[in-house]
Amino acid sequence: MPPPAPWPYPFWIAHRGAGKLAPENTLAAFRAGQARGYRMAECDVTLSADEQPFLLHDATLDRTTDGHGLAAGQSWATLADLDAGAWHGPRFRGERLPTLASLAEHARHSGLLLNLELKPGPGQAARTGAVVARVAAGLWAGLTPPLLSSFETASLAAARDAVEALPRALLLERLATGWREAACGLGCIAIVVHHGALDADAIRQAHEAGLRVLSYTVNGAAEARRLRAAGIDGLITDASTASRRTRWLNTRGPGRVQAGDGQRHPPRQHRDRSRIHERNAPRWKPSASAAPRRRRTRRRSAVSHRAAPGGARRMATRVDRCRLCAGAGRAPLRRDPQRQRGAGPGRSAGAATGR
Ligand code: G3P
Ligand code: MG
Repeated sequence: MPPPAPWPYPFWIAHRGAGKLAPENTLAAFRAGQARGYRMAECDVTLSADEQPFLLHDATLDRTTDGHGLAAGQSWATLADLDAGAWHGPRFRGERLPTLASLAEHARHSGLLLNLELKPGPGQAARTGAVVARVAAGLWAGLTPPLLSSFETASLAAARDAVEALPRALLLERLATGWREAACGLGCIAIVVHHGALDADAIRQAHEAGLRVLSYTVNGAAEARRLRAAGIDGLITDASTASRRTRWLNTRGPGRVQAGDGQRHPPRQHRDRSRIHERNAPRWKPSASAAPRRRRTRRRSAVSHRAAPGGARRMATRVDRCRLCAGAGRAPLRRDPQRQRGAGPGRSAGAATGR
């Protein structure tokens, strides 16, 4: 049995940079994933017509940007102006398609590890593999390297020929005859397989060939537990919170793990402040002797909203319903002007960037 290659990657990997919580494959999505405890993210990398590597899942621009047509046919100057966030929600308006360079800079500053899936446009398999490998090797020099993966064997072969030292993984929808030979022939250190095609026997065979095994896209607790018990090395998932992911695996049997397994607790500035705010929000409990509800809720009594977005302390009244608790627009927030000492109403720059 060949010895397994070094494996510096954590168990949980956010799919498309936590692409359900924020527009997929944008910097906002990576920040959202990190705020929920992810240390590693998967994303899709392709090339513009002038060979700028950037992040996009589809071959065309229409679903996730305000552009149209094939991405591979357009210059980076055109692509850089597109809005890649508004389709997901108005608060992401203005989010741009990230270049690989901007992602590397974000990763360097925040410590995020990456799985770069090579997603070539039509007829661009080899060119995409070679260019992305060369550019990534320069951008990640001295850091934990990104894991390059692809369904396209031509992309992986070109990446290997360009920069052999970068770790590679073969993506597979199913385990057809010859999968081990294909992965090992490309010098891969891992396979990334659709979860429906994996069982304990297949994972054991891969391990015996010196390959790690990841699975995509695992969004159910039972499936996560099954794969963990079968010996999987990592899961690519859209699951939103670290506590949910840990709960998924905490069951009796061989898949049982400790809290925090495979992930570090997120740095404090990455905590999701809206959730802290929710926990601390005041709750009104009627008692048996309470006055009629309408009169009671109209009485003014100041309560503190601690840890409000942006870190500001501010005062509100119970009759006021805070915007985060009650939902924007349903009950406008009124502040007690005497108690409000300079706490601004807006979100801080940190909150606005999701940090
Ligand atoms: O890399 C795993 C997974 O991302 C492959 O599927 O279509 O989401 O890129 P897709
Ligand atoms: Mg992908």
